[in-house]
Amino acid sequence: MAQLTASVYTSHVPAIGAAIDHGKTTEPYWQPVFKGYDFSKQWMKDNTPDVIFLVYNDHATAFSLEMIPTFAIGCAAEFQPADEGYGARPVPTVIGHPELASHIAHSVIQDDFDLTIVNKMDVDHGLTVPLSLMCGQPQAWPCPVIPFAVNVVQYPVPSGQRCYNLGKAIGRAIASFDAPLKVQIWGTGGMSHQLQGPRAGLINKEFDNNFLDRLIADPEGLAKVPHIDYVREAGSEGIELVMWLIARGAMSAKPPKVVHRFYHVPASNTAVGHLILENQA
Ligand code: DHB
Ligand code: FE
Repeated sequence: MAQLTASVYTSHVPAIGAAIDHGKTTEPYWQPVFKGYDFSKQWMKDNTPDVIFLVYNDHATAFSLEMIPTFAIGCAAEFQPADEGYGARPVPTVIGHPELASHIAHSVIQDDFDLTIVNKMDVDHGLTVPLSLMCGQPQAWPCPVIPFAVNVVQYPVPSGQRCYNLGKAIGRAIASFDAPLKVQIWGTGGMSHQLQGPRAGLINKEFDNNFLDRLIADPEGLAKVPHIDYVREAGSEGIELVMWLIARGAMSAKPPKVVHRFYHVPASNTAVGHLILENQA
């Protein structure tokens, strides 16, 4: 059977992608950000999974106001990096895993969560920046990736509780796939940030670090935090953090092993948070 080995959590910021693509990672502004991922890149090499199930949000790139799926699973054989207005990032094509994606779609939908099935989609910085942070600049990504897009851009957005419960269903789906695959689940986006309006630039270190503490040790309680608390405390884009609860919900009930924790402000307008949690055998 497939086995969920670990979960990875990281912010995404388009400027981080640009810093990597333009060779600026050692500049004084960026060096402390990338330093937090040195451990992670080595860990990825030592713990390369067979598949990554990558929970992220699209930023009106593949979807627009014309069509807004709350939860969308990418079942295609491949996904191209999107052109977000500056040309596509010079990163590898994302290779999918249609068999596992279809199995998860079947299992999760029969488990009462309504997913949108996507057979063609480009993937924006929400997906490619986490891959770059964890894998550097390889010729090809180290394994297939199943993109799982969550609407946290256009209201109404799903609750933390819904995301956490969905993560549990995804965990059950992975565990019932009849092939000996090692699977990681990644929760991305966040941490506190607000990009528009009078509160643009908002960052809340206390909220973020409490979120990290509770994601590790009290995910059940954290799942109960209502969306309005994220918006008030972590800014309008801080709501991206509910996606981390999907990854955490998929982990086994035993307390996870914390193998890496990192926090830095700011990167562009965003607080950068990062965790690697391993499932205990
Ligand atoms: C920034 C952060 C985001 O999450 C995003 O999607 C776009 C921009 C920023 O910090 O600039
Ligand atoms: Fe974002």
